[in-house]
Amino acid sequence: MTEDLQKILEEAETAFRQAREKVPPKPSARQAGTVSYVGSGIALVSDLQGVLVDEILVFADGTRGLAFNLDRDLTGAVLLGSSAGIGSGGEVRGENRVLDFPVSESLAGRVVDALGNPLDAQGAIIADERWPVERPAPGIMDRAPVTEPLASGIKVVDALIPIGRGQRELILGDRQTGKTAIAVDAIINQRGRDVLCIYCAIGKRASAVAKVIADLKQYGAMNYTTVVMSSEDDPPGLQFSAPYAAMSLGEYHMSRGRDVLIVLDDLTRHARAYRELSLLLRRPPGREAFPGDIFYIHARLLERSTHLREEHGGGSLTTLPIVETEAQNISAYIPTNLISITDGQIYLSPELFRKGILPAVDVGRSVSRVGGKTQLAAYRAVTGDLKLAYSQFEELEAFSRFGTRLDEDTRKTLDRGRRIRAVLKQKQYNPMPAAHQIGILVAANQGVFDGIEPEEIGAVEEKIRKNFDQEFEALTRKIENGEKLDDKELQSLAEMARRQLDR
Ligand SMILES: Nc1ncnc2c1ncn2[C@@H]1O[C@H](COP(=O)(O)OP(=O)(O)OP(=O)(O)O)[C@@H](O)[C@H]1O
Ligand SMILES: [Mg+2]
Repeated sequence: MTEDLQKILEEAETAFRQAREKVPPKPSARQAGTVSYVGSGIALVSDLQGVLVDEILVFADGTRGLAFNLDRDLTGAVLLGSSAGIGSGGEVRGENRVLDFPVSESLAGRVVDALGNPLDAQGAIIADERWPVERPAPGIMDRAPVTEPLASGIKVVDALIPIGRGQRELILGDRQTGKTAIAVDAIINQRGRDVLCIYCAIGKRASAVAKVIADLKQYGAMNYTTVVMSSEDDPPGLQFSAPYAAMSLGEYHMSRGRDVLIVLDDLTRHARAYRELSLLLRRPPGREAFPGDIFYIHARLLERSTHLREEHGGGSLTTLPIVETEAQNISAYIPTNLISITDGQIYLSPELFRKGILPAVDVGRSVSRVGGKTQLAAYRAVTGDLKLAYSQFEELEAFSRFGTRLDEDTRKTLDRGRRIRAVLKQKQYNPMPAAHQIGILVAANQGVFDGIEPEEIGAVEEKIRKNFDQEFEALTRKIENGEKLDDKELQSLAEMARRQLDR
């Protein structure tokens, strides 16, 4: 009997031991790793067990990093602070959470860094929640078509390259061609329109960002705008994370049914930060030394911009990513990637800029692939003729420079085109309501300005705008409600414009 019992006990013990060996050991309190290499912006950490992708790591001096490359023995970390206090052999711990960002309505009017720390002197950030900066984009079934316009207040954009809420419209051009100016004007134009704005600076000069903030304040746009800032002096890890943080904040507002406009200034620098990190972490380089997944990185970021269906609150996230080209080469790697990811582009030409044709939008090379459907109906009465007249003009302009004798028709087309070009000029910080734009564009189409010099048009425009407010209140409402204007109304607008010439 005791022998049997002994046997049973022995068998039970073996079975138990065998069963226990099949279960992997539970990671108890997670082991700290050690720094084995520190480079500019990155560190390699050995023996860090069970770490997650994008997990926050904390170094001995308190500096934070992001687990980027996960290998069996070595974790490649991207530093989110200075590497000055990190020595080799130092301890590194995983925080068991991914990078996140504070989200709240109270972030309007604030300037923060990519981690959500305040950079203004307005005290701590009080947030309802923290959202992970890397989130999957809303699914196809949650998305609604883009149906409502996002007014930029810039004539050439609203009339010829209209943007819709939820659209991604690329702004691209060489350096100093007015890219930021277009985006900032679009933000300024949202005053009183119930659109929350986010300006995200990526690796820009601090002085350039300070200028944008000062402009936003001066034109009353700061109380509905959040600035997420990373400057060229920040480690590449912070520059890389900034747009994700901005997107999370935008998604938070969108999830609450709000309309949001995000400016990403600019993704060229974002791509460069990612290239720097990838090369330091020895990921294989591809075209122009960018890592192969840069397309995926940008597509995934911009996918998050959308218009949600009514049952999800109907909010929208419109993104204006900016890209800097070199020597007008829009077929370089990053610009072509972004052109194919976005729903259109506004191309700024350095030649037009040099000639003082501002904003320097090259209409022929710009396109909006979804915005046209959202345009207010009144615009449709003017944009067709405007586009036609302008493209004919651009074609003829090149020839007319040779000084050949021109026939009457050609001369007329050129004269009209020069005036349309003058009409599409617009000063910075001077966004215009739709009704004013239409008043001016109707006049241009009907040849009201043909009798005056292009330089005089600006002054007449101002008179037309003043009169519009006095005489056409009902028409303004009609235009803003998206109603069509009939021929009589168009005629009365043109007549009003004509009267302003004589004054
Ligand atoms: N419509 C405009 N009217 C007058 N000046 C303008 C206009 N648009 C831009 N500018 C001026 O042109 C200059 C360059 O503009 P901006 O900084 O927007 O260009 P950018 O392409 O963003 O430059 P960077 O490549 O340095 O970022 C600025 O001094 C700006 O004030
Ligand atoms: Mg700029």
